[in-house]
Amino acid sequence: MRVDVLTIFPEMFEPVLGASIMRLAREKGLLDVAFHNLRDFTDDKRRSVDDRPYGGGPGMILKADPIFRAVDEARAIEGLPEGELVLLSPQGEPFSQGMASELAEAERLILICGHYEGVDERVRVGLAPREVSIGDYVLTGGELAAMVLIDALVRLVPGVLGCPESKSEESFADGALEYPQYTRPVEYRGMRVPEILLGGDHEKIRQWRSREAEKRTGERRPDLWGGRR
Ligand code: 6GU
Repeated sequence: MRVDVLTIFPEMFEPVLGASIMRLAREKGLLDVAFHNLRDFTDDKRRSVDDRPYGGGPGMILKADPIFRAVDEARAIEGLPEGELVLLSPQGEPFSQGMASELAEAERLILICGHYEGVDERVRVGLAPREVSIGDYVLTGGELAAMVLIDALVRLVPGVLGCPESKSEESFADGALEYPQYTRPVEYRGMRVPEILLGGDHEKIRQWRSREAEKRTGERRPDLWGGRR
């Protein structure tokens, strides 16, 4: 999977993309991330990417031109598919495991990180990106949201996770939260691992886990129940 990130803060990504699974995926050539600094697509001395809103009001608006030019540059790179445009903004469609599965099918994504009070509306009208939000709260910019999205997608790319089952057994893959998990030792500070997990009866263990997952989902996330995908 190829991801192009359009941002005014490319340096924010390095520590995240350089660690753990994302680092491994990039080393294996399964994830290729490129950055396009929006400031490189400005012409004034101050390299301004933002300006005041027409009609007045607080805050600054991300200008359309650096974004259009960065998209043009990304799309002019030879040998790559056109790519699906995604605008990260709190006004977007809520991100979910279902959307992650959909987006993980794309060969190439171009992520636009929104900022300030918003982006010039001509970005939406002229580029028709899919607009995505990672939740009902406001971040200072789309960079952290873009990293959340890349992280959720990369683990769905074939070959990235060592054990493919770990994708399907986990929370949300089937609309339920995960069952409780334990590892050694059998007793820790007076708390014991449930006897059934020590017995080796795989059918009993499967039933126990399924009941526990159902109980936990009903208690914590009744909204997910019935949403089994
Ligand atoms: Cl994608 N961007 C910003 N700035 N805030 C958000 C968000 C995105 N998703 C939730 N809050």
